[in-house]
Amino acid sequence: MSAYGSFPGARPRRLRTTPAVRRMVAETRLHPADLILPAFVREGVSEPVPISAMPGVVQHTRDTLRKAAVEAREAGVAGIMLFGVPEEAKKDAQGTAGTDPDGILQVAIRDVRAEVGDDLVIMSDLCLDEYTDHGHCGVLDADGRVDNDATLERYAEMAQVQADAGVHMVGPSGMMDGQVGVIRDALDTIGKEDVSILAYTAKYSSAFYGPFREAVGSSLQGDRKTYQQDPANVRESLRELALDLDEGADIVMVKPAGPYLDVLAKIAESVDVPVAAYQISGEYAMIEAAAEKGWIDRDKAVLETLTGIKRAGADMILTYWATEVARTLR
Ligand code: PBG
Repeated sequence: MSAYGSFPGARPRRLRTTPAVRRMVAETRLHPADLILPAFVREGVSEPVPISAMPGVVQHTRDTLRKAAVEAREAGVAGIMLFGVPEEAKKDAQGTAGTDPDGILQVAIRDVRAEVGDDLVIMSDLCLDEYTDHGHCGVLDADGRVDNDATLERYAEMAQVQADAGVHMVGPSGMMDGQVGVIRDALDTIGKEDVSILAYTAKYSSAFYGPFREAVGSSLQGDRKTYQQDPANVRESLRELALDLDEGADIVMVKPAGPYLDVLAKIAESVDVPVAAYQISGEYAMIEAAAEKGWIDRDKAVLETLTGIKRAGADMILTYWATEVARTLR
């Protein structure tokens, strides 16, 4: 007894006494194979182009993309998610460059596949916003609204050209109703049963995509609120989840990651397929900017966010820091 009452019988601090003890009892361990590197490749450039709102991230040339893929593989990263940035003049209302077998994304898939083969999972963004002149993820109807079913036909074709180029896994990110099912059918029809679908299941209409728009040179007219989810909602994520699973999603994803850990935890609790989370451009930019000002410890902040995302239930994390973090984990 102290003069002030009883001493504590339970002392949780005991398991925090030394780095070795803390290491032993850590519940969540990041591993290089948890990480997937999103990468941009720009058509018609001979030098990589820096993205000002994402310090350290570039729009790759075909050559530097191959190198980035090799570096990712050497660091033990699990996969690379490719985004194509076409020449401005090739953008049109239908996003034609997205289904051109010689479009920049298809070329990049072939390049990376030739370079790393099956040693790195090659993934591709399956969406029209990189290729449309209006910047929307789908084609528009006569009234200027995103036309769901007409867009599905474009996605089916995109899936086929990406699969023909050698992608292992497609990532439909446009949030059109029925996209997973239509893409599954389109792939199966051409004998690509082995190409998997990473479904953007719960994708929120987020301010944190801002830097990405610069990354892919997209000037969006309007917003995406008629197809991406309202940040206020969680129940509709469970509905989207049920639909995606029913349509044949192999992996389901929550995006953004940090502000939606509750959604991630709920989804992870209720599925029997792997769950991914995407730490997006704005989440990256915030930490880089604060660190540049000397306001936070960058490396610790990066690891803490990734640990939190994994702890919440992600089996894999798309992050622009993938290669760097994988190296430090080795
Ligand atoms: C759509 C797509 C976006 C991102 C990935 N796929 C942009 C959007 O939905 O507006 C964002 C990724 C990021 O911000 O890092 N093709």
